[in-house]
Amino acid sequence: MTDQDSSTTQIENVISQLRCIACGATGEDGAKSVRCPQCGDLLEVAYPGWKTSRGMRAAGLEATGLRSLWKERRTSFEPLDASGVWRFREVLPELRDWNDVITLREGNTPVYELPGCGRVAGVSLLYAKHQGMNPTGSFKDTGMTAAASFARQGGFRWVACASTGNTSASMAAYAARAGMRSLVLIPQGQITWGKLSQALDYGAVTCQLKTDFDGCMRVLDEVVQRMPVYLLNSINPYRLEGQKTAAIELLERFDWQVPDHVIVPGGNLGNSSALGKAFVEMKELGLISRLPKLSVIQAEGANALVRTMRENGGKTLISVRAETMATAIRIGSPASWKKAVRVLEATGGAVEEVSEVEMALAKAEIGADGIGCEPASAVTLAGLKKLVKQGFVKKNESVVLILTGNLLKDPDFTLKFHRGDLFIGTEHEEEATSVLTPRQHAPIVLDANANTVVKVLEHAERNES
Ligand code: F0G
Repeated sequence: MTDQDSSTTQIENVISQLRCIACGATGEDGAKSVRCPQCGDLLEVAYPGWKTSRGMRAAGLEATGLRSLWKERRTSFEPLDASGVWRFREVLPELRDWNDVITLREGNTPVYELPGCGRVAGVSLLYAKHQGMNPTGSFKDTGMTAAASFARQGGFRWVACASTGNTSASMAAYAARAGMRSLVLIPQGQITWGKLSQALDYGAVTCQLKTDFDGCMRVLDEVVQRMPVYLLNSINPYRLEGQKTAAIELLERFDWQVPDHVIVPGGNLGNSSALGKAFVEMKELGLISRLPKLSVIQAEGANALVRTMRENGGKTLISVRAETMATAIRIGSPASWKKAVRVLEATGGAVEEVSEVEMALAKAEIGADGIGCEPASAVTLAGLKKLVKQGFVKKNESVVLILTGNLLKDPDFTLKFHRGDLFIGTEHEEEATSVLTPRQHAPIVLDANANTVVKVLEHAERNES
């Protein structure tokens, strides 16, 4: 990559380039390394070509043109249009050959109202954008279709990631579809069976390392330097471009009216960075007139961003030794922290942390609205309750929770919760018993006759009223 005049990398239609977030060095799309060769910091995709003498225009289109084109594509069966990522291709980096796109019809995920959760949180307009409704059950698919397609364009035979589970499941699926091999590094004993089984089924070479996620990331950094494998963690800038589309879909769903708050769980902080980037870009392109406040919620035991913001205003990362039952976000040294800080500053969002019991309760409350999600996603509702109490979120403001993973990703957590086993023998046992018991629905073992079942039914009916 070289420092160069942006006009030298302009391509017809989508005009994008890679840019270092620290030193600003730029280079052409499609680089094989996902770090800045000059200073080693993270790269992002920038769109210098959107700037015209008459303002900002993506692919030569004004805001109204983009809106109607994107909507129209929803009725198409063409693979690129049917993808909830690639139907927004005017605001994504362009592949040299669109046949390189690997798609599983990701994106186009539902937005649900959450009336019960709205009542417990104390807000009247509460929605969930459920990214767990993607093909492999998590938000990772929207990023993976983009980054895996660039891997194919780059001619890579191997792709690799370190993961708390969802990235590996997604990467393994997209690699398999593309005929690429995949290498997965996961912390031994710290990812759910659901996620692990997906990676195995899609044929990944799966290494369980005797370390945590941060340790896996360190090992992988060395492996990619020594072997010709393409890194598909969220430090890969194309991952974030794909993940941007969830924010665009959300705006489209509300007819380009901007919700007041968007709340997202924070782990390695790629997703918050991606969604924030999308909102800022949509405003630059004139598709929206203001930004939602994007807030990031972490588990108390994996609260690196919370501490970084509170203790030094986001200047240098404070790493932590991560510990939480929400294994998806059990991350102590988030790679994309600088990008996330930038998003918090741009949108005026908050950071908050929640306890294990608060998260477990919130997960059951989301389930009670008929939606369900994995534990890491539930920190959003738990965090919202705190932000409402602090007055940061007002009662009549509209709020969207980003649910990142499907309920079925971690049935073990859900079963333990309902059987009352989740916090047994932990310091939270007493608190958990008093707070969680009303939400628990343990399975009932009965003799096989109608009388006993009817009794259970009558008992349940009495308790309800
Ligand atoms: N929610 C779920 C369900 C996740 O799997 C993750 C991250 C996050 C939230 C946090 O998102 O890292 O972009 O801040 N999972 C990664 C993985 C780390 O390997 O699957 P983030």
